[in-house]
Amino acid sequence: LVLILDFGSQYTHLITRRIRALNVFSLCISGTSPLKSIADLNPSAIILSGGPHSVHVDSAPCFAPGFIDYAESNRIPVLGICYGLQLLVQQSGGEVRSGKKQEYGRMEIEVSKTGGLFRDNNIGDKQSVWMSHGDEAVKLPEGFEVVARSRQGSVAAVENPKKRLYGLQYHPEVTHSPEGMETLKHFLFDLCGISAGWKMEDVLQEELKAIQTTVGPDDHVICALSGGVDSTVAATLVHKAIGDRLHCVFVDNGLLRWKERERVMETFESDLHLPVTCIDASEEFLSKLKGVTDPEKKRKIIGNEFIAIFDKFAHDLEQKLVKKKKPEYLVQGTLYPDVIESCPPPGTGRTHSHTIKSHHNVGGLPKDMKLKLIEPLKLLFKDEVRELGRIMGVPQPFLKRHPFPGPGLAVRVPGDVTLENRLDILRRVADEIFVQAIKDAGIYDSIWQAFAVFMPVLTVGVQGDQRTHRYAIALRAVTSQDGMTADWYYFDHKFLADVSTRICNEVPGVNRVLLDITSKPPSTIEWE
Ligand code: XMP
Repeated sequence: LVLILDFGSQYTHLITRRIRALNVFSLCISGTSPLKSIADLNPSAIILSGGPHSVHVDSAPCFAPGFIDYAESNRIPVLGICYGLQLLVQQSGGEVRSGKKQEYGRMEIEVSKTGGLFRDNNIGDKQSVWMSHGDEAVKLPEGFEVVARSRQGSVAAVENPKKRLYGLQYHPEVTHSPEGMETLKHFLFDLCGISAGWKMEDVLQEELKAIQTTVGPDDHVICALSGGVDSTVAATLVHKAIGDRLHCVFVDNGLLRWKERERVMETFESDLHLPVTCIDASEEFLSKLKGVTDPEKKRKIIGNEFIAIFDKFAHDLEQKLVKKKKPEYLVQGTLYPDVIESCPPPGTGRTHSHTIKSHHNVGGLPKDMKLKLIEPLKLLFKDEVRELGRIMGVPQPFLKRHPFPGPGLAVRVPGDVTLENRLDILRRVADEIFVQAIKDAGIYDSIWQAFAVFMPVLTVGVQGDQRTHRYAIALRAVTSQDGMTADWYYFDHKFLADVSTRICNEVPGVNRVLLDITSKPPSTIEWE
């Protein structure tokens, strides 16, 4: 295991993923975690991430007291990246000075000592690397040596081979450092002696065994399927482990995409052979949403209604089961980014204290059900979940689907969703026209999410020489890594023109199409 201590860099998850891509298991925990948490994981190597802080600020995060002694006495190599290097230097008795020479973006560094971090290089070799720092190490602690410098002469890499402490002032994990991965590989495989052997096949076998050990032979497990990748892969995995003692439920809340219910049920039943009960609760949901315009109220109503239906499903199931054994477990498709406890950089919105929206996932846990959770994906990233799904035979098109929010189209119709046929208009535009056009243009996989938003605004138009007074539709498509931040997708103009024409021609009630060109932040991806 390679352990990443997170100090708030935007690249921390990337380091974890890069290492896993080398078939080495890696985990990321908060940089300030106590020594015991670190020791319990028994890491073979530790990487200290970068971060936006300055080591001089009082509130700057630091590893636990005694960390360097712990690593040294257990012969665990440590690599500090950017802020991580500065922490290593400062905490070992060196000096870090605040930003005289700020270095941001692509820089050139020159190797000044070989044999360690740069074993196979020659002295004087140059590398293009990605820097992003204001502070710099100006005095190294005893035992440390500079092994590369930037063109401006600042310290770019240091090492203390005796204590197995290493530091890179640049980011080897980003693609803008073309030789960075080679350096990381050399660190892991040569300097730390780690062998690559972690594979998704092994993860599958381990998870199956873990589920079979946890769930007793008479126990029953329930799972709420949303039709998304995560809950589907989680359910498929649990089904593989315990067979038909898994009971899935899929709720049609009247807020689903075009033909979603039919598509999802077919995939579950025909392709995955998952036992699923489909509950049509659209009338209940829509009647509760009638007249409600406040976004948070809408979200709460949908969340609560879902819990009520789920609760009833579990209760009915208990009555039906032969041994009247209450279902004890609930499967959730929680992913690793949701459980990582990181050091959020101040002011980036990555703090957990401020509720922007009350997200709810299908499967929100009813308070009085006291179900125990099975979260078989909680150590995996989205692309790894897709890979796990692939080796279990979940169809590719299903695995590549864009995420869809728990509250469904309700967050894409600002205001009252039940008026006129707003939901129907949206379904036709969003999926039948916009998303299909995106698929036809071959750009679906380059986009994180694409959808239409119903604008509850009547505007004047002219169609067939007639004055019209109809609704507007906004198109939203974004690129993103994890949904936390996003940029809008730059469509080809011709593509947009064609989609706009089709929407106004084919969707009754619409005479205007807008494009949402805001990133997140300041907007969010969904409109409510
Ligand atoms: P926002 O709108 O907060 O969305 O920028 C970020 C990502 O989360 C999805 N989303 C949700 N997913 N339950 C979910 O499971 C929710 O309540 C929810 N609200 C937003 C959104 O589609 C985007 O991918």
